[in-house]
Amino acid sequence: MTPAATMQAFESRGQLSAPADATSTIDAGDCGRGVVGSKAAAGACQRIVSMLPAHSIFVEAFAGGAAVSKFKRPASATLLIERDPRTAATLRAAMRDRALVVVADAIDVLPMARLPAEVCVYCDPPYMMSSRRTARRYYRFDWSDADHERFLAWAKAASCPVLISGYHSRLYEIELAGWRSISFGVPTRRGRAIEHVWCNFPDTHALHDPGHVGLSFTDRQRIKRKAARWARMLAAMPPGERAAVLEAIASSIDAGDCAAG
Ligand SMILES: C[S@@+](CC[C@H](N)C(=O)[O-])C[C@H]1O[C@@H](n2cnc3c(N)ncnc32)[C@H](O)[C@@H]1O
Repeated sequence: MTPAATMQAFESRGQLSAPADATSTIDAGDCGRGVVGSKAAAGACQRIVSMLPAHSIFVEAFAGGAAVSKFKRPASATLLIERDPRTAATLRAAMRDRALVVVADAIDVLPMARLPAEVCVYCDPPYMMSSRRTARRYYRFDWSDADHERFLAWAKAASCPVLISGYHSRLYEIELAGWRSISFGVPTRRGRAIEHVWCNFPDTHALHDPGHVGLSFTDRQRIKRKAARWARMLAAMPPGERAAVLEAIASSIDAGDCAAG
């Protein structure tokens, strides 16, 4: 299914805005800090973006301020699903022509589409009530435990790469037991919290946007310096030698010689 056809499938189900056709990212400082649970918090966007596998269509369900979509390298097509029309209107204005914004219940809409492997779905649903520091509602469309169960049933059956972020909870621990996960600290209005990201695919070097890999700011800088050093070394080689080195690297990766992690 082409990006256009995938978008069309969603178009028939939602109220949509402008088509996706953009190549630039939005500055990290403008990634939608206003939404509770925004992933614009220091380091969160980078950690999530550095896990995204290569994809041509990106879907951000439960979009809110869509910090990840704004920060990452754009895909050929980006679809944002947000149930709150007010939040969606703000998002449309911020994204301009970079994404389609659908006002819909993503728990209902996602199971209707057969998403091919070239689609990557990032989900940042409302936190479970049991994992919050206060019992108050955060969103106009907040979730019951039954909503989380319905959402997890879809995620476990999905045939494309899916990433889910949230706080630790017993339900997610049990339901996503077979999934790979990472966790990291994030600053919140009520102090530091531990954010988890679960994904249904193995660790891969075929990343969509490898420019943000690293465990912290310092680690990311170290990796950037290393990448620049290796690029300079390769650029300085005679073309034949460079081709031989690149082929050796590619074939050792194909043969699985690279240690994971
Ligand atoms: C945790 S926030 C997402 C924050 C977002 N990742 C960001 O960077 O700003 C969850 C969002 O999901 C929206 N939402 C709640 N239920 C939804 C549903 N069933 N379908 C789509 N969006 C929903 C809420 O209105 C809220 O904006």
